[in-house]
Amino acid sequence: MASTKKGKKFVLRGSVSSGLGEGRYFMRKPKYRKQFVSRLKINPYLGTLNIKLSKASSASLSSIKRRKAILVSGFKEGSRSFGAVLCYDAMLRGERCALIVPKLSKHTAVAELISSEKLRDKLKLKDGARVQFEVFA
Ligand code: CDP
Repeated sequence: MASTKKGKKFVLRGSVSSGLGEGRYFMRKPKYRKQFVSRLKINPYLGTLNIKLSKASSASLSSIKRRKAILVSGFKEGSRSFGAVLCYDAMLRGERCALIVPKLSKHTAVAELISSEKLRDKLKLKDGARVQFEVFA
């Protein structure tokens, strides 16, 4: 952890993993997308890159969640509620991205990254690839 103007830099490690395609579902929602564009300046690729974190990095994610986030508000669509999302600037192998964490989630084993790019293609990442990324929080 080092100090930066914006706060602290957290270095997290883990391996690329696949989920159930849920990221794509949420990232399609225009009410989320508009906020990612305006608050993070990221027009996100349709999905989230999942990184299964090491034990130490999972603890770091818990610490990050207690720090000041860029907040994406939740909303309602019919009877369904979509929760608020905590966002943090991040960097993966030179690619600007953002760590996103559902505000109400208690899970810290997996980190989700969004980016304007499809990171798997841009960085040639397959499931199981070990990666390190920085989070500014
Ligand atoms: O299927 P899964 O839940 O892992 O992923 P998704 O959120 O539906 O995203 C679709 C695919 O794009 C997955 O393979 C992600 O790992 C990948 N992805 C990516 O490469 N770069 C991003 N910025 C977002 C997602």
